Order: sequence, then C-alpha cells, then structure tokens
Amino acid sequence: MATSLIRRTCSKVQRSSAAKLLLSRPVSTQNLKDFQVYRWNPDNAGKPELRTYQINLKECGPMVLDALIKIKNEIDPTLTFRRSCREGICGSCAMNIDGSNGLACLTKIPNKEDKATMVTPLPHMFVIKDLVVDMTNFYNQYKSIEPWLKRKNGGSEGGKEIIQSKKDRAKLDGMYECILCACCSTSCPSYWWNPESYLGPAALLHANRWIMDSRDEYTKERLDAVNDEFKLYRCHTILNCARACPKGLNPGKQIQNIKSLQT
Ligand code: SF4
Ligand code: F3S
Ligand code: FES
Repeated sequence: MATSLIRRTCSKVQRSSAAKLLLSRPVSTQNLKDFQVYRWNPDNAGKPELRTYQINLKECGPMVLDALIKIKNEIDPTLTFRRSCREGICGSCAMNIDGSNGLACLTKIPNKEDKATMVTPLPHMFVIKDLVVDMTNFYNQYKSIEPWLKRKNGGSEGGKEIIQSKKDRAKLDGMYECILCACCSTSCPSYWWNPESYLGPAALLHANRWIMDSRDEYTKERLDAVNDEFKLYRCHTILNCARACPKGLNPGKQIQNIKSLQT
C-alpha cells in the first residue's frame, strides 16, 4: 500500500515537472509560408505576374482555399478567385496548384515551409482576372451533348415514373458524380491544341453518361452526334484527365466506351 502510494506520488511529481518544462519552452506562434499567386487585371495595362504573399499557417485552415481566403481577407482584397461550397461539390475553385489541376478546397497546403506554393489559373484557358478563367467554351461543349433525358414521345409518360433497374442504374456510376470543374479537360494536351473542335474529357464523359442511361431513347443519335474525327477521336488515351480528376473519375475510360460502341 505504502509502496504504491510512493509510486503514485513520484509519477505525479514527474508529470508536474514535465509540464513545467513544456511551459517554460518557447512555443513558436509562427509557421510562415510563401504563396506565389498569378495576378492579372484586364483593367491595367501590365503583364501577368506571380505575386508572393506570406502567411502564418498557424493562423490558417489546412487547405489552399483557406490560404487564398486569408490572403484576400487580410492582405490583398483585390485577389480574385471563384469558390462557393468549400467541400468539393460545386467545382468552382478549380485551379492549378504547384503544377497540378485540382480543387483548392480539397487540396491541403503542401507541408514544405521552405518551398513556396504556386497557384495559377487552369491551364490553356482565357483568363478573365487573376485565377478566374472563361468557362464559356467548356459549358457550350457540355451543352452540345444535350445533357438531359430524351424520350421519343417527348417525355409525356402520363405522369408515370420511368423505371430503371438497379443494374442499369449502376452503369451510371463513375459518371454522374462529375461536378464539371474542368480539371480534366484543361489537363488534356489534345484539348489544349483543339479546344474548339475536340469536345474534351468532361463533355465526352457526360455524353457517355446519357448514352448508357437505360431510360434514354436517343442512344444511336447521341453516338452519331459525337462520331467525329475531332469531337471524339482527338482523344489519344493520354489519361491526364483521370490523374487530374478530384472526384476520382476516369473520363478516358468513358471515352473508350463511346469509341467501342461506335464500332
Ligand atoms: Fe471535374 Fe472529374 Fe468532372 Fe472532369 S470528370 S469535370 S475533373 S469532376
Ligand atoms: Fe485527353 Fe484523357 Fe483522352 S487526357 S487524350 S481525354 S484519355
Ligand atoms: Fe466548391 Fe471548391 S469551393 S468545389
């Protein structure tokens, strides 16, 4: 009994001196990191530049979007970028971070204090301002594949639900999750060289999503509509698209499916 009392007292003493030691040690309140951010304002005549901002990571959230919001709120309110959901759902914060396309809200701030993190707009896109790119062509290509359910009778089912089996529904997995962020298309070299004529991985993934939908009655017309040397066959299976997709989708595989259905 006496021994265990002594042991308990000793460990208590050890704990309190360890705590004192910790308290006396200087605690760093700073973890500074540089961010090099692409800046260009169409209202100024100047050329684009990379502007460096230093922030204290100890006072910042863990994601690149947190850093950009901190820069905008506390250092430079003129910095312009898109964001909305901050949880990988809206697709609006797509940008290039240290050379890879991704969503700023899902990308952790790289943990290398000595190395600056570079943030630039999605590659090969026209820049509207800073990190905001013009998505008009991308959305028009999406629109061109008619991304909605098409029925021969014009959709008048007499108010009845159009049934789909679980097996047929499962065929849409890997496509319906797309958030149209454009990370894939803007990482595809074929899309860089033919942005007007090649539909690109995102639009083609959606084309396949409707081709594979058991409820859609325009499968043949959809296949014919993309059966084109440029619209479809500019895909050379480079697969940058799959590497870039923040939702883990594989547009290259879906394009391959459209090609195989053409034959
Ligand atoms: Fe974004 Fe992936 Fe959809 Fe491409 S396939 S637009 S990368 S979510
Ligand atoms: Fe481009 Fe992906 Fe095809 S990167 S070439 S769309 S497989
Ligand atoms: Fe919506 Fe990043 S803010 S995906």
